[in-house]
Amino acid sequence: MVAEGLTAARVYKLCAIAEQTKSYPLSGLQEDVVWRNDVAPFLGSLPKNVLDIWHYGFTEMLNNAIDHSGGAQVTVNMIKTAADVQIGIMDDGVGIFRKIQKALGLLDERHSVLELAKGKLTTDPARHTGEGIFFSSRMFDHFAILSGETYFSHKYLDEQDWILETKGPDTGTYVQMKLWNHTSRTQKKVFSRFTIGDELAFAKTVVPVRLAQYGDEALVSRSQAKRLLARVEKFAIVMLDFEGVSNIGQAFADEVFRVFPSEHPGTQLHPFNTSVAVGEMIRRALAAKSAISGQS
Ligand SMILES: Nc1ncnc2c1ncn2[C@@H]1O[C@H](COP(=O)(O)OP(=O)(O)OP(=O)(O)O)[C@@H](O)[C@H]1O
Ligand SMILES: [Mg+2]
Repeated sequence: MVAEGLTAARVYKLCAIAEQTKSYPLSGLQEDVVWRNDVAPFLGSLPKNVLDIWHYGFTEMLNNAIDHSGGAQVTVNMIKTAADVQIGIMDDGVGIFRKIQKALGLLDERHSVLELAKGKLTTDPARHTGEGIFFSSRMFDHFAILSGETYFSHKYLDEQDWILETKGPDTGTYVQMKLWNHTSRTQKKVFSRFTIGDELAFAKTVVPVRLAQYGDEALVSRSQAKRLLARVEKFAIVMLDFEGVSNIGQAFADEVFRVFPSEHPGTQLHPFNTSVAVGEMIRRALAAKSAISGQS
């Protein structure tokens, strides 16, 4: 697995038409200055929609290293091929998943991935909104974060594919973004998938349910359901993606589809990619909900 990864990385480098690596002290660093002086000249003439995505993703991720990492230095590596560009940003700070785990009091560093996947997660609400990683991860063809023992990745084509692995730098955070030079994707199109109607607010999210389960652990308990739905009341519409979840237990289904909606009428839950067994459990929970509301 690792050997394959290294080989692929080496082949990618062989195709490079330009490569640049530069380190910066984080103290006093400004993301727009690095963009203007180093990144935009390296990218050169690419279509406007592509440059706009790079501008957004690069400045958001460098700003994260500056504002959240608590580190001393950041290194930016850029590789350009005829087909695409890859940029890596590595800081030597506390590590993103550890930071989120501590701030939210999570039991496991890996729970941070589920929280990041939901969006609107920030550990500094006075100065931030928690949108940078959510939207950046959806704009690039490939977006990954490695830190500690956790790996979080999102592939555009394989929309729901968030992966957990156990390999990464011991300290700090490494963010890697890759974008095809001729994509027709635009920032606007990506933002509009998570807004409702003509409103500009970030009101809709997609939650990969399988991130609430670890290994072969089945989703059966109310506490797992509460973990899945923590903070989702911040959204009007929550798409629950059951890809990779073969079954769920009765208590889990009851908590998600009966208890949560009755306590949070402002948030609609929409399950999709459900197996036959999961669909059956959801129908049972909804039937119990109608029976109870029929009695009152
Ligand atoms: N390089 C990093 N090192 C440590 N923690 C990080 C790093 N990058 C992000 N984080 C953590 O992840 C959280 C989510 O980051 P994200 O960029 O999505 O939102 P934000 O920076 O808080 O808000 P916004 O991007 O909307 O300004 C941050 O609040 C911070 O706790
Ligand atoms: Mg940010």
